[in-house]
Amino acid sequence: MKIKYLILLCTWCALSCKSEPNPKRGAIAETAMVVSARQEASQIGSDILKQGGNAFDAMFATEMALAVTYPYAGNLGGGGFMVYRLNDGEIGALDYREKAPLAATRDMYLDSLGNVIPDKSTVGAYAVGVPGTIAGIFAAHEKFGSLPVETILKPVIALAENGFTITQKQEKRFAEYDSIISAVNGKQVLVNKTVKANTLFKNTALAETLKRIAKNGREEFYTGQTATQLVDFISRNGGIITMDDLLSYEAKWREPIQFTYDNLNVISMSPPSSGGLCLAQIMKMVEPYDISQFGHNSLKSMQIMVEAEKQAYADRSYYLGDSDFVNVPIQALLDGKYLKNRMTGFSFERATPSSTISYGDIPNYSMEISEGIHPQEHEETTHYSIVDQFGNAVAVTSTLNGAYGSKLFVEDLGFFLNNEMDDFSSKPGVPNVYGLIGGKANAIAPQKRMLSAMTPTIVERDDKLFMVLGTPGGSTIITSVFQTIMNVHEFGMTMQEAVDAPRFHHQWLPEEIRIEPGRFDKSLLKQLEAKGYTINETRTPIIGKVDAILILETGQLEGGADYRGDDSAIGF
Ligand code: GLY
Repeated sequence: MKIKYLILLCTWCALSCKSEPNPKRGAIAETAMVVSARQEASQIGSDILKQGGNAFDAMFATEMALAVTYPYAGNLGGGGFMVYRLNDGEIGALDYREKAPLAATRDMYLDSLGNVIPDKSTVGAYAVGVPGTIAGIFAAHEKFGSLPVETILKPVIALAENGFTITQKQEKRFAEYDSIISAVNGKQVLVNKTVKANTLFKNTALAETLKRIAKNGREEFYTGQTATQLVDFISRNGGIITMDDLLSYEAKWREPIQFTYDNLNVISMSPPSSGGLCLAQIMKMVEPYDISQFGHNSLKSMQIMVEAEKQAYADRSYYLGDSDFVNVPIQALLDGKYLKNRMTGFSFERATPSSTISYGDIPNYSMEISEGIHPQEHEETTHYSIVDQFGNAVAVTSTLNGAYGSKLFVEDLGFFLNNEMDDFSSKPGVPNVYGLIGGKANAIAPQKRMLSAMTPTIVERDDKLFMVLGTPGGSTIITSVFQTIMNVHEFGMTMQEAVDAPRFHHQWLPEEIRIEPGRFDKSLLKQLEAKGYTINETRTPIIGKVDAILILETGQLEGGADYRGDDSAIGF
């Protein structure tokens, strides 16, 4: 009997006296780290840092390594945004978003009755915006890079030539998109359903393109042989991009959006991305609530977060567009009183119907759209975060828009072209592929940049570098970045836990909370429904794939590589 009691006592002690399990930490590095959608890209970026390169050299290498290993979103034929923070605290942002071609017109995707022509802005050469990626990485390198471009591209070219191993997820996606890619190209191309997991995948055409870029620089892509081949290919396939479009493309340095939340200083992307502004609006609307006391993904915390999201997305649909063409009232939209006012209708009792929410009122605001030539959103985007051994940080989100972009593959050059034109509002009030409603501010005009949701973000805490993060996910990008920051700051999670945590999303219209299937308590969902919320568990099986770095108290770096993809954090 005594022995039995002893065993019971020990069992009880083992269960009840057990200390809290150790928090799940991601990969730890001492001074430098790259987190991206592919192991090979993170490795190449990290190797460049090890060779003495800085975060901007690693950006160049990682971006191009993703173009090789992750044709789903990594690209030469797309565009992106970068936010940086130097080790002395200087911050900035680079916009290498695609642009509408010179021959673009406001109604180019409408039929004679003014209706949107299905697929025209999403598939094939007519959907392609003027690519900005090569201009972007060269602009960053020119300003801050330290290693020669040839050195940076050497391992990337080797990767394209010698091949890399296809993952299970890649095999599945290649098969899933095979029929549409074949249909758009009129034949099976390099990316196709016969490519199997655990086999080597080589892209010699891309290796040749990269060799020419290594030799001739940025101009190879915008005026050289690659440019000529690209324009010829696009025109043969019914597109409207010309040599003039490529010649006039320029990446632009922008002032990032910056705002405080408690003791955090958040630095994120400015227009033509809506990311930083919407993130700022949402976080400032939520800040007055003591959200941590309600608990992570609790009924009350979700209500507050969702209602703030609805208000911000309603503003986004009306006010946001390319600030080179449209007066985007950034200061007014971030004004404390304005944001407080936006939340006055909030109640824990009932959901606020989206039909009763509109964009906020900004006195004396005039949109001042310029529609002439200016003088002078799916999960298929990718994000990478870098901190170098010197303490510099970059957050970069880069995209083709849809999976494999327009599905048009430039076989001789070895890359897909974007379908970013769909991020314009083809017709105000009609949703794009992400279901996002756009307004006049985001109408098509020659050389204008289409509105984005990309949210590369750097967070300082008590004036020190604290977190670097971002994600793909179209319209869900902003809310995924928001939740990841909250998970660390409000709910005390490690970087990896914050990245792994189940996510939800509301974008005002459609009137629904999208949630990751099977990851939320049924009883919680019932409680939300009882408050008047519509739950959609099927629309977006994965909400975001966040790749992030957290600077720990020890000075070490913790990577948060999203388990939802093949993502990987590598450093030293
Ligand atoms: N194409 C996705 C975005 O720019 O938001």
